[in-house]
Amino acid sequence: MDTTAATPGTPFSQLLRSTTHDKHDEANASPFIGRLLAGGLGIGAYAHYTEQLWYVYQALEKAGEALRNDPVAGPFVRDELLRTAELERDLTFLRGEGWRDEVTPLPATAAYVARVEECARTWPAGFVAHHYTRYLGDLSGGQVIRDQAEKTWGFPRKGDGVRFYVFERISNPAAFKRTYRELLDTVNADDLEKQRIVDECRRAFDFNSAVFWELNEAYPVSA
Ligand code: HEM
Repeated sequence: MDTTAATPGTPFSQLLRSTTHDKHDEANASPFIGRLLAGGLGIGAYAHYTEQLWYVYQALEKAGEALRNDPVAGPFVRDELLRTAELERDLTFLRGEGWRDEVTPLPATAAYVARVEECARTWPAGFVAHHYTRYLGDLSGGQVIRDQAEKTWGFPRKGDGVRFYVFERISNPAAFKRTYRELLDTVNADDLEKQRIVDECRRAFDFNSAVFWELNEAYPVSA
């Protein structure tokens, strides 16, 4: 895909969306997501996925805390988005109280986390790319996953097991996403920096796809 196809004056939020569209489709087309949405995976696979998310959101949210006052990344850091506590409740429900002793990051998750941490340390605008890729996705397609998880494993609606997908403090997700996109449109970055953010965003999608691939391999389709 041509990632340089910006018409002058295209709002950055639109540019980001259009230049990552193919990567979004790629992530969505991963067999793990397909099997999850078709109800073809056990609760263990879902829990395993939730564990990987816990590593990613710990990294995102520790980084967010450190960048709260950063002029570029700071405006994106919003408490109502925080997911770590919700993931911990879900994991306690899915795995039991001792879950922390049993979880490990997949190699793809470890690489993803390392990159988020590196961006947070060295390049706040790169952190914005990771922030956008996860949180705007959770506010959008995440709801499809929640719905399917509730149906497949009988979790209480918007309750334990799927709390990660429930943004209690965001009453109007569409309005929140609009405001978020406005923030993207005014991000303090020149064209070259915006292109670098686009590239990092594409990379963020690739990290997600890589995690899905490894999860898929962990749960072979039985013959
Ligand atoms: C079950 C799989 C998924 C489904 C069904 C899905 C669906 C959607 C839908 C319908 C939208 C458009 C929402 C809108 O216009 O407001 C969207 C947006 C988005 N999704 Fe996904 N998605 C999925 C997986 C993912 C994954 C794995 C990621 C990356 C980690 C992701 C990242 C995003 C982002 C960043 C947006 C916002 C695009 C923008 O408006 O700028 N999605 N998704």
